[in-house]
Amino acid sequence: MSKILLTGGAGYIGSHTAVTLLKEGYDVVIADNLSNSDKQAVSNIEKIAGKSVGFYEIDLCDRDKTFDMFKKENFDAVIHFAGYKAVGESVAKPCMYYRNNIDITLTVLEAMAEYGVKRIIFSSSATVYGPLNPIPYVETMKTGDCTNPYGTTKFMIEKILTDVAAVNPDMSVVLLRYFNPIGADPSGLIGEKPQGIPNNLMPYITQTAKGIREKVTVFGNDYPTVDGSGVRDYIHVVDLAEGHAAALKYAFNNAGVEAINLGSGRGTSVLELINAFERVNNIKVPHVIGPRRDGDIAEFYADATKAKKLLNWETKLSVDDMCRDSWNFEKNQK
Ligand code: WQD
Repeated sequence: MSKILLTGGAGYIGSHTAVTLLKEGYDVVIADNLSNSDKQAVSNIEKIAGKSVGFYEIDLCDRDKTFDMFKKENFDAVIHFAGYKAVGESVAKPCMYYRNNIDITLTVLEAMAEYGVKRIIFSSSATVYGPLNPIPYVETMKTGDCTNPYGTTKFMIEKILTDVAAVNPDMSVVLLRYFNPIGADPSGLIGEKPQGIPNNLMPYITQTAKGIREKVTVFGNDYPTVDGSGVRDYIHVVDLAEGHAAALKYAFNNAGVEAINLGSGRGTSVLELINAFERVNNIKVPHVIGPRRDGDIAEFYADATKAKKLLNWETKLSVDDMCRDSWNFEKNQK
C-alpha cells in the first residue's frame, strides 16, 4: 500500500488525518519535532486506528536527517502540516515564523526532488484570502493581503509549491485552505491541546467549561453580523481529515496545482457557538463581551463547491457534533 509522510503529523489536524489514512489502508509515517505536540498523540493514533505508525522525532529544517528519512522510507506522497501556527506569536516573532515555516518547506521539497516523490498536499489556510475579499471566499480570488506573518507564510508556501510544480509537470500539488477546524475524534483520545493560554475560541470555551479559565471574552459584539459577534466557518476536524484523504486520492490521479477550500460553506457566530456548546453539553460557559481583537475581521466562510466537484467531499458533521466532541476530549484531559 502507498506510504504517506505526514510532516507535523503529531499535531491537531495531522493526528486526525493519520487516523483516517490508517483506516483507509495507507502506511503512515509521522515526522514531528514535538514543539507543539506530544509523543502520546502517536500512541493514541495507533490505539484508535488499531495499526502501527512510523515516527521520526526530527526537526525538518535539519537537511541531513530529513534526507536520511526520505532515503530510508521511499514515500509515495507528503502531507505537509509542520509549521508554527499561532497568529499572535507570528506578529511578535516574524523572523522565527518565516525562518521555520519556509525552511521546513524548502527542505522537504528538496528531499522530494532528490528521492522522486511527486505528490504533496499542503495545509494552507483561509487566512490567505486576507480581509478585502467578499464572502463567501472562492479559490479564484486574489490572495496574499494577509494580516499577520503566519498567514503570509501560508501564502508564500502556496507560491513556492506553485512555482516548483510549474517546472515539474508530473508533480501533484493540492493546497487545502482550511477554515476554522474544531472538534475531536469521538474517542476523546486526540484533540486540540494548545500550549499555554488558548488563542482560538473552542479550546478557550472547553477550558472555561472545565473551570481552567474563569470566563470567555467575546471579542466584540458590534460587528455587522447576525448578532454582532464574529462569524466563522467551523469545520469538524474529522471532516477535515477526510478532506485530506480525498485530496490524496485526487493527487494520485491528477498532476498540476489545485487550491481547494475545506469548509462547510456556513457561518456561525461566537455567541451562537457558545450557546450551542452550552445546550449540547448541558453546561454553563461564563462569558462577557469585550473589545474587538486586533486583526480580526467580522465574518468569513467558504464557497465549498470546488471540493464537492473535484474531490466529491463535503462536510457531514454539525456544529453540535463539534461541540460534543470538543467537550468529550477536554473532559478526558488530566
Ligand atoms: C474565531 C472567532 C474571534 C477567541 C485563526 C487563524 C486561522 C486558523 C484558526 C490557526 C473570532 C472570536 C476567539 C476568544 C473570541 N489557524 N474569539 N474570544 O482568528 O478565525 O482563525 O485560527 O490555527 O488560520 O487565522 O480563529 O478561534 O481565534 O477566532 O471572541 O477568546 O472567535 O474574534 O471571531 P480565527 P479564532
